[in-house]
Amino acid sequence: MSQNESIPVSSDDPKHQFHELTVFDVIRETPDASSFIFEIPSVLEDLFRYRSGQFFTFEIPWDDFHVRRCYSLSSAPAWGERPKVTVKRVDDGRVSNWLNDNLGQGSTIRVMPPDGRFLLHEDSARRNPLTLFGGGSGITPVMSILKQALRETERHVKLVYANRDRSSVIFRAELEAIAEQFAGRFELVSHLDDETGFLKKEDIARHIEGRIDSDFYICGPTPFMDAVEDTLPNRPLEGGEIFVERFVSAVDPDRRPAEEAAPGPSTGAATTIKIKLEGQTHEVPYEPGEPILKAAIRAGLDVPYSCQDGYCGCCMAMLREGEVTMPTHEALTKRELAEGWVLACQSRPTTPNCTLEFED
Ligand SMILES: Cc1cc2nc3c(=O)[nH]c(=O)nc-3n(C[C@H](O)[C@H](O)[C@H](O)COP(=O)(O)OP(=O)(O)OC[C@H]3O[C@@H](n4cnc5c(N)ncnc54)[C@H](O)[C@@H]3O)c2cc1C
Ligand code: FES
Repeated sequence: MSQNESIPVSSDDPKHQFHELTVFDVIRETPDASSFIFEIPSVLEDLFRYRSGQFFTFEIPWDDFHVRRCYSLSSAPAWGERPKVTVKRVDDGRVSNWLNDNLGQGSTIRVMPPDGRFLLHEDSARRNPLTLFGGGSGITPVMSILKQALRETERHVKLVYANRDRSSVIFRAELEAIAEQFAGRFELVSHLDDETGFLKKEDIARHIEGRIDSDFYICGPTPFMDAVEDTLPNRPLEGGEIFVERFVSAVDPDRRPAEEAAPGPSTGAATTIKIKLEGQTHEVPYEPGEPILKAAIRAGLDVPYSCQDGYCGCCMAMLREGEVTMPTHEALTKRELAEGWVLACQSRPTTPNCTLEFED
């Protein structure tokens, strides 16, 4: 098994299985992006109830195997909308082009229920402003969060939205209408690279002036996200938080490098590991060489996960004791890695003691 291969852990939990959904409608948003709206049958309603900022995982047949990709919900529950994802074509990309070319009204597709950690705090006591950075297709989860926040909270929302040029701006008309409807509570800053070049750190610093106590949400191309992350303070003031969503693809079975052999049992590695979950510590048998997530699931623990492949970030946990190796950690930011966060689906202990704590 290559180290990027999906972990052969079967979960009977329907939230980790694919279900067939029908496309209710398709909206051509720009020349290279479409939104797909889904019909949710009543038997699946509970399973597919989502929070703003979450994503669906799609599976499509490809040659003699299947490929999976995540797409964020761009709709918002509080607006009474059917679940909608918005997919932008990537040059030579497999799934983004396939969906744009093939998925039409009435088509069916296999979808895993919503998941993700790029979430809006919806508690009404929370007062921090929201400062959102969206670049290109990275607007999708940000759009959901801003719409939900404007309807469900009293918080002030500012969106800095960067695009290549005017024709590539997804949701332009809708955002302008929202800015009019929520004038005074929503500030829309539109940045076009063809007019003023890429968004610079000094622009970002100007946009966050007076908003340092915000919850910050960042999603977009890597250079855009790096510029924003590098400009933000290490920790926002007064309990504000920084949320980051990285749009990376799963590594398809035919694209996994053959030389990446599975890590074998490491000398001196753990035979039991400790998992802290919802305030309880569980001692779990561990087979050397396997990802920690696999051991936790086998032990029957309800730990969070989705892709099992290192790109969605759902299995993020804090390494409290010991050391691990991780072949892939694209879903984590530099800041998270430095703080000691790891991906349970990628982590293998290299020390006899290892304790991982999942957030509540
Ligand atoms: C949580 C999450 C949410 C997301 N939400 C959205 C969303 O709302 N909207 C959206 O549009 N996208 C979203 N994405 C990104 C999406 O999942 C895909 O990564 C994206 O659509 C590209 O997939 P693809 O199959 O079209 O391209 P891929 O086939 O994955 O290829 C991407 C690029 O890499 C190159 N490439 C890949 N592998 C190789 C290789 N081995 N050799 C050579 N070249 C290679 C391709 O040529 C192409 O240029 C999200 C991702 C995540 C993780
Ligand atoms: S389950 Fe997706 S990164 Fe681990």
